[in-house]
Amino acid sequence: MTSLVEELTGAVSAAFEAAGLPRDLGGVIESDRPDLAPYQCNGALAAAKAAKANPRALAASIAEHLAAARPDLAVEIAGPGFLNIIPPASLYASRAQVLAADPRTGARKASAPLKVMIDFGGPNVAKPMHVGHLRSSVIGDSLQRLMRFRGHEVTSDIHLGDWGLQMGQLITELEDEQPDLPYFDAGFSGPYPETPPVTIDDLARLYPQASAKGKADPARQERSRKATAELQAGRPGYRALLRHFINVSIAALKVDFDDLGVHFDLWKGESDVNDLIADMVADFKARGVSEQSDGAWIIRVAREDDKKELAPLILVSSQGSALYATTDLATILDRRQGPDPDLILYVVDLGQSDHFEQVFRAAIKAGLAEEGGLEHVKFGTVNGPDGKRLRTRDGGTFRLADLIGQARERARARLPEAGLGAALSPDAFEDVARKVANAAIKFSDLQNVRTTNYIFDLDRFVSFEGKTGPYLLYQAVRIGSLLRKAQGEGLSAGPVQISHDAESALVRRLDGFDAAVQRAESGRAPHILCEHAFNLAQAFSAFYTQCPILPEKDEAIRASRLTLARTTLTQLNTVLGLIGLDAPERM
Ligand code: ARG
Repeated sequence: MTSLVEELTGAVSAAFEAAGLPRDLGGVIESDRPDLAPYQCNGALAAAKAAKANPRALAASIAEHLAAARPDLAVEIAGPGFLNIIPPASLYASRAQVLAADPRTGARKASAPLKVMIDFGGPNVAKPMHVGHLRSSVIGDSLQRLMRFRGHEVTSDIHLGDWGLQMGQLITELEDEQPDLPYFDAGFSGPYPETPPVTIDDLARLYPQASAKGKADPARQERSRKATAELQAGRPGYRALLRHFINVSIAALKVDFDDLGVHFDLWKGESDVNDLIADMVADFKARGVSEQSDGAWIIRVAREDDKKELAPLILVSSQGSALYATTDLATILDRRQGPDPDLILYVVDLGQSDHFEQVFRAAIKAGLAEEGGLEHVKFGTVNGPDGKRLRTRDGGTFRLADLIGQARERARARLPEAGLGAALSPDAFEDVARKVANAAIKFSDLQNVRTTNYIFDLDRFVSFEGKTGPYLLYQAVRIGSLLRKAQGEGLSAGPVQISHDAESALVRRLDGFDAAVQRAESGRAPHILCEHAFNLAQAFSAFYTQCPILPEKDEAIRASRLTLARTTLTQLNTVLGLIGLDAPERM
């Protein structure tokens, strides 16, 4: 199934060849002046440069060959030698017909599907999630939806942070509050209670408490460090407590992520690979992958051509403990032994770039991965109106749950302001408010080029006007209700015929979906999907304003327009699905 752009490229490339010019200069693109011509080819200029010939003369020769082979296309030479190409209405109509009949509206699957693992989310047990985790969750979820849509075999893993000092802090703080629990009794021989000794609220309280005490009192911090080391060494009571902490956290996280419509296949964490570490380290030492330095074991990863020197990865600290990079290496080993992915994507903020570069190089050095098999999908920060990293009013880290709560509240207020939601039952209204809030949060994040920072502006994000998630949901709802109304009036869809410029413009947008999906995949770039969704919605709006549908008297034209509307809705829902937006039936 070829797109219009591909078909035109094929025809123009053949004309280049027939004119004795390099075929690969015949690429056709959508023009930036659709008022002059919808498509253009600029290759005659490059061909003229190479052949030291007159570009307009070459363009004329190409145009002649093109006209001979494809008399249906109108070709004009513009400026110094641009080829402007205007397809006939029938070409748009036949392409639209194909898109209408395809449940994927033209988006193809990857020709060589891969096994892909996506590591995203990455919240830490007991520590509240912050906006960095939100970005990772939203971008990672979009990538997993996109990769699946492309036909790849995807496994997603939340990779919980459950193995650091915060675990020792929780353990010691709980011990201070409830010293009689069996987990702290080194002589206790089990079994330990099945019921967790804490709730998620306890965890949320214990961690900052311990953290504050540790900052004020080095001896208190040392106790936490010691507890962490004992936990990592396998002290049974602490391991049992860890399991409780993790389970309680996961239960709470699942509620938040379900609410947000983000799904993970695996809920593994750093602690899951602890038992692989000893053997892995021994193996790295034996094979000379790791070497000793100042009492620590390190892996050298610097390369001569590095612009900035990359520090060695610390595999085992001088105190004998495994660090963040160690668990990441062991996790790669674990994934090799499990799903054995061709590609692992790590959706983590830019700030961890050096960490991942160290881990990737070390993994390749150790033979755990191949060049290109590990990829850091980086993103920038979310900033407040002052341009600095988003903080709460009292200067603390922004919590994900608060942000979602705020967005939900705004959505509830905004719906009636926009004249929406009045006819809904309270439950349906709440469901719509949830979808609007999620759309606002996700779209405002995903629409940015991933690596840029963006300013958090909830009011703008929740608006039904402009380039926002709620606007797109509203457009989908509008098309849906139009189609329901048509059905109610007994009107049916029929073959596409093109009788208006706004119709061909809409078909061009529909036609561009496949290319957008492919570019989004190769660039790990959900913003391209956002762009496509917005442009499609805009093209539909223009079409809807200029081309009456229900009031149209000509039955064939009306039927054709209904097909265009239905196809637009299918594609809009598909692309919204790829960025994690869920349009309600009604608003
Ligand atoms: N828990 C980490 C953090 O909060 C993110 C984990 C990212 N994934 C990984 N494999 N290191 O910063």
